[in-house]
Amino acid sequence: MKISVIGVGYLGAVHATCMADIGHSVIGVDTDADKVARLNTGKPTFYEPELEPILKRNIENGRLRFTQDMTEVVDCDLHFIAVGTPQVADGNAADMRYVDAVVESLLAVLPAQSERSIAVVGKSTVPVGTAARLQERFAGHGIPVVWNPEFLREGFAVKDTLRPDRIVYGLPDDVEDADTARTLLDECYADLLAAKIPKVETDFATAELVKVAANAFLATKISFINAMSVLTDATGGDVKKLAEAIGYDDRIGKKFLRAGIGFGGGCLPKDIRAFMSRADELGHGDALAFLHDVDDINTRQRERAVEKLREALGGELSGKKIGVLGAAFKPDSDDIRDSPAVDIAGRVEHAGATVVTYDPKAGEVLQKFKPERVIAVSLEDAVRDADAVMVLTEWKVFQDLDPSSISDLVNTRIVIDGRNCLDPKRWRDAGWTYVGMGRK
Ligand code: UDX
Repeated sequence: MKISVIGVGYLGAVHATCMADIGHSVIGVDTDADKVARLNTGKPTFYEPELEPILKRNIENGRLRFTQDMTEVVDCDLHFIAVGTPQVADGNAADMRYVDAVVESLLAVLPAQSERSIAVVGKSTVPVGTAARLQERFAGHGIPVVWNPEFLREGFAVKDTLRPDRIVYGLPDDVEDADTARTLLDECYADLLAAKIPKVETDFATAELVKVAANAFLATKISFINAMSVLTDATGGDVKKLAEAIGYDDRIGKKFLRAGIGFGGGCLPKDIRAFMSRADELGHGDALAFLHDVDDINTRQRERAVEKLREALGGELSGKKIGVLGAAFKPDSDDIRDSPAVDIAGRVEHAGATVVTYDPKAGEVLQKFKPERVIAVSLEDAVRDADAVMVLTEWKVFQDLDPSSISDLVNTRIVIDGRNCLDPKRWRDAGWTYVGMGRK
């Protein structure tokens, strides 16, 4: 099939690459000239394991190409909309201007009544009601819209695209339009469907809600266990053991119960806020009131980490030197969007301490977006002469670190384990004061 993917940021670049790899001829469109030029050389504009060789291979075999020119999508069978929906500057709602701009440019280049069957596929995470609004715009051109949310996680984006847990189609009410959209999308995903990946067909609203509901549930799970960590701290319990024990119950499950400094990244925080904002607009803000608590618990964990540091240092942060290990919002990523690690480092600095950060992948990005931060080129440089070390992203190199290898570098042997990813015994045996989050 011939496919266009409009918007080749994180989601779009991965989707375009993976669709090319399963045999489609793909054109990726973006307004950013640098991004287009770089992708055309086979280099991703962000770090994602596994992506680069697949991108390169498909650029070389000619199945994948990137352009700024929207007119090049004209003979495609499917048009995937994958542009961002960031949080608006003055509130919590999703900013729809990029999606709306794509709709207008598509309408400008696509024929008014196509002789072939084509469809527009929404992938971006949007406020419920968007697909219906878009369908109205495309109806005049006789083009069906289908909502097909993605659930990809950074660090697993290729796997999550080619072997997702499920595929969701939000189809139009019009039966003929729904048939056209379903047939085209089934052909596009034939490889995935042959691998027996479950498919859920539903209406527009449900498909849009699936995405935000899934993210809201995941965020709630994390904040739940973080709330428990306050109680284990207060009572001398251990939140890791607690999570393990409750997680053996299949109805609860073990995943997403890692307590620590909370969730960040480009999706969970912004998506739950946009969801609350949309519920308010619909007159049902009360139904999602609990998400305010989920968000608040998440932010409080950041402050708790700073409090633990202050306490460990005898009540004063001013004049202290803190080595911060980690900046990315999670390991195996160079993404620092809404990263708890970056936020905490800022809070510590604000309290008067000097902070030196080291991250195996996100140092360059941090330097670009926060040029005022001091970034070390090695872990050793970050912790040298530190009064305390904070581990804020659970990179494997930090988990594997032999504490005695840095014991003589630091000023005081204090470690704050913001991700509960270190072995307390190992650090204590090496003469360190170990402080976890809700963990003895
Ligand atoms: C998330 C969803 O998982 C994905 O399905 C959706 O499509 C996009 O948003 P991602 O942002 O890549 O994916 O990160 P994820 O692995 O979900 O982690 C989000 C944040 O939660 C990270 O900051 C992580 O450190 C934190 N987290 C995760 C916890 O604090 N505890 C956990 O138990 C799990």
